[in-house]
Amino acid sequence: MLILTSIFILSAIALLSALWMLVPAFFGPPSVPTRMNRIRKALALANLQPGETLYDLGAGDGRVLLIAAGEFNANAVGVEIGPTQCMLIYLRALASGLDKKIRVRWGNYFTADIKEADVAFVYATSKETGRLAAHLQNQMKPGSRLISISADFPEWEPSAVDELDLIFLYVMPPVQGSLMTYLAKKAD
Ligand SMILES: C[S@@+](CC[C@H](N)C(=O)[O-])C[C@H]1O[C@@H](n2cnc3c(N)ncnc32)[C@H](O)[C@@H]1O
Repeated sequence: MLILTSIFILSAIALLSALWMLVPAFFGPPSVPTRMNRIRKALALANLQPGETLYDLGAGDGRVLLIAAGEFNANAVGVEIGPTQCMLIYLRALASGLDKKIRVRWGNYFTADIKEADVAFVYATSKETGRLAAHLQNQMKPGSRLISISADFPEWEPSAVDELDLIFLYVMPPVQGSLMTYLAKKAD
């Protein structure tokens, strides 16, 4: 009986680990988390306010949602393709007592409804940001802010950049341009 239980537990762990890695690998970037202080800096750059709604597109282990809800008193919604990540986020929201402020949606950020977002957060590669741009432009309301970690949106001019931590801020609707036009204006 003990052997059977052990085999069952080990198989469950192996399956969850495989799902953790394989599902995201099929759809987009892997689950590499953003450093906590980089998240705090990014949310401060976006001027996230209490009561606003933040969307994390590709929510990973839920850390952006926990910081947004716990430290910025925002409502936080995660869109995540990995079922294991979704389960973990749900459990972390419950364990932290922030479950009233955090929601997780199992889904694809290329098609997700994010119209209610005041701030959207994305940590992806430039391949994904290029593909996401049209969807975000269609979905995000005027005045909402988009934070991108590491990768810029090649056809948009950021309104602020943290050059040390590579954090790009865009205010919707986006200004046509690029990082180069932003830097050129800054140098003037
Ligand atoms: C680089 S991690 C970022 C996690 C978290 N946002 C952070 O900053 O710590 C990217 C996450 O996006 C998820 N992901 C990849 N492609 C996706 C897609 N098309 N739709 C939703 N989530 C996706 C992955 O499962 C992974 O958890």
